[in-house]
Order: sequence, then structure tokens, then C-alpha cells
Amino acid sequence: MTDTVQITIDGRTIKARRGQSVLQAADASGVYIPRLCWMKTISPVGACRVCTCKINGRLAAACAEPVREGLEIENDTPELLEMRQSIVEMLFVEGNHYCMFCEASGNCELQATAYRLKITAPRHTYQFPERGTDATHPDIFVDRNRCILCGRCVRAAREMDGKPIFQFLGRGFDRHIGVNSGEGLVGTSIRVTDATISSCPTCP
Ligand code: FES
Repeated sequence: MTDTVQITIDGRTIKARRGQSVLQAADASGVYIPRLCWMKTISPVGACRVCTCKINGRLAAACAEPVREGLEIENDTPELLEMRQSIVEMLFVEGNHYCMFCEASGNCELQATAYRLKITAPRHTYQFPERGTDATHPDIFVDRNRCILCGRCVRAAREMDGKPIFQFLGRGFDRHIGVNSGEGLVGTSIRVTDATISSCPTCP
């Protein structure tokens, strides 16, 4: 069995390495698939669905779908653009993202993805949720208003730093990121040098 397989993306045939995901194979061949919860250095979970493609005719998260010989992938279609726009618009209205006043403006993956998907204003109603912050730590600040629940901090802390600091708490609209200390972030073993610090797509 060879190490490579052939797949097509939007009609273009490319070679991919076995073990790669569709998203990794696309990256390697210069095809961009939007993504938010995916990060090169941590395991994929397929949480945000922004990378959704049509793979052999069915919708699937490109970041979590391994390549196989002969896969036919649709990525750049009006239908998928509409779906991705809707997902990203929901992220904007479910959180509190004020790009014009945000210090992360220009260095935020959510904002960049919205521009890339040609979103000007969300079509959904803003929820203005009360999310709160954690300012207990002298060096590190958690602003849950900007959180898009991608779980990158959860996985980066566990997989790269070896620290199970972050976890998902609550359900539905109340779902949020918590820490493994009742005192807040200050009671955890987090350090400013930890990989998880730079894993957040909206607070880089
Ligand atoms: Fe693939 Fe989030 S990047 S589901």
C-alpha cells in the first residue's frame, strides 16, 4: 500500500498523505478551507463546523475527516459559503464581539474568518449574553464575552502543557469554559509561558 492517495477538491486532483485530514491535505496543496476550532498542534474535534465540506456527497468536518483514495470534496460552493456564513454569524450574536473597539481587532481569527466569508453584519438577533470575566490571575485574563467555545484552550492545556486546567461547564446557552479551581484562574497551575495562552482564536 502506497503512502499517498489521490483526492479531488472542487474538481482539482491532488495527492495527499495517508493519515492526513482533508483539511491538512487541502492546506498542503494550497487550498484554503475555513476553520476555527482546528489548530495544527492539537487533536481535531470537529466542534465549530466552519470547515464543513461536502465529502462524497455528504456534509462532514474537513478537519476531522481522514483522506481516502478517491474522495471527492466540494469546498468552494455557494451552498457551503452560506452554511459557513450562518455558523460564523451565530458565533457573533451568541457572544459579545465588538470588533471596532476590541484590542484584538486585526489579530483575531473570528474577525478574519468573517471578512473572508464576506460577512458584513449578522442576520440573526444579537443575544448580548452576560458571560463574565476571570481577572483573578495577576498575569492572565479570561474574557468569556469573546469565547466561541472552540475548546482550543481546553485541548492545548491538556495536550501541550499537560495541565487539565480548562473544561466545558453548563449546557446549551449556559455552556462556558471553567477552570479546575474554585478560586478562578489564580488557583490553577497556568503560567504565561504555557501553550494554551496563545491557543485562543479571539484573544491571541
Ligand atoms: Fe473543523 Fe472546527 S475547524 S470543525
